[in-house]
Amino acid sequence: MKNILITGGAGFIGSHVVRLFVKKYPDYRIVNLDKLTYAGNLENLKDIENEPNYTFVKADICDFEKILEIFRKYQIDGVIHLAAESHVDRSIKDPFTFAQTNVMGTLSLLQAAKVCWEGDWTDKRFYHISTDEVYGALELTNPEGIESPFTTKASSALHHLAFGKEYFLETTKYNPHSPYSASKASSDHFVRAFHDTYGMPTIVTNCSNNYGPYQFPEKLIPLFINNIRHGKPLPVYGKGENVRDWLFVVDHARAIDLIFHKGKIAETYNIGGFNEWKNIDLIKVIIKTVDKLLGNPEGTSDHLITYVTDRAGHDLRYAIDSTKLKNELGWEPSLQFEEGIEITVRWYLDNQQWMDNITSGEYEKYYAEMYKDR
Ligand code: NAD
Ligand code: TYD
Repeated sequence: MKNILITGGAGFIGSHVVRLFVKKYPDYRIVNLDKLTYAGNLENLKDIENEPNYTFVKADICDFEKILEIFRKYQIDGVIHLAAESHVDRSIKDPFTFAQTNVMGTLSLLQAAKVCWEGDWTDKRFYHISTDEVYGALELTNPEGIESPFTTKASSALHHLAFGKEYFLETTKYNPHSPYSASKASSDHFVRAFHDTYGMPTIVTNCSNNYGPYQFPEKLIPLFINNIRHGKPLPVYGKGENVRDWLFVVDHARAIDLIFHKGKIAETYNIGGFNEWKNIDLIKVIIKTVDKLLGNPEGTSDHLITYVTDRAGHDLRYAIDSTKLKNELGWEPSLQFEEGIEITVRWYLDNQQWMDNITSGEYEKYYAEMYKDR
């Protein structure tokens, strides 16, 4: 595979994947296709934008004719599909856009790949990036946490807890609750249907919550880092007891690289680092880290914690079992949670211009609208 189409490469995870591929594979042509919605930002790729093996194309994945043209022009033989509407809160306000982009957009890419590749699947690959949220929510049987049976490099030294006995496996039945996860589940089904019906060489991976540099500040971690910096309230949904399983974004990008090259066709792989955190505990770590790096005495920003109305249909617990990926392909996270959080906080504090460019203008309207009822 030499000509690889990466969709959504100007977004958070996509920009890390594009950077990794452009640097690691000088012989590949990397075509980054992105519509540049509010979440897409070419600033995320400034350091590699002039590399000879990199091309950016501004296009909408829903525009089938345009996608077909791009496939033909660049003789695409591999796809890594990340473009999506990705924020649960937005999906609650505007589910149509999620169905359009995530379902119809994925279908349009699949159909373009089918038209261009049919009859010769040799060395072709359609790799679809999905989320653990398609599996629904796990029970929170141990709200105080129990000793986790799994240890990986990502496991925290601060705490090593699981909040229930069950985990999402590749065989767990789909049970999405939000319009976001319902749209991602639907796109996953279409990808697998194109394998089963037409024989397209597809792969799907479902990953847990990512954190790291270049994440749009509507998501918990960058939003809270930025709010602490400005002394603004930190809106904790409900009681802050929901549990998420956090993975450093570069480790997700490493997994994508490995699976794209070595993963088995038609397989599903779960990606996660066995690193569960109750929101409120994670928030306390973020506050402590930001205060430390800003040179504030410990406890300075604790008063910013503000409990607000819960998210509708808020999934209680996500926890990924990524044993299959470890056993079959040897992937493990490379970074411990404490290191990842410190790198992340430092990056946002060192890149205030990046944050300020995003949080001026349209973002103000979004933020006011999103939190007006809370
Ligand atoms: P993001 O919102 O930061 O980026 C999405 C990118 O897609 C943006 O650059 C945007 O401009 C582009 N895009 C949106 N609609 C488009 C369209 N119609 N045509 C072309 N481009 C379009 O998202 P992210 O957090 O980087 O997530 C990337 C993928 O990974 C998504 O598919 C998401 O479901 C999945 N995922 C995310 C996480 C997470 O924690 N962020 C975890 C697991 C899986
Ligand atoms: P988020 O970053 O939106 O990711 P996801 O909903 O895909 O897991 O939220 C992570 C967790 O943090 C989730 O349980 C919701 C919660 N949350 C808050 O408590 N306050 C906030 O302002 C945001 C954005 C999220």
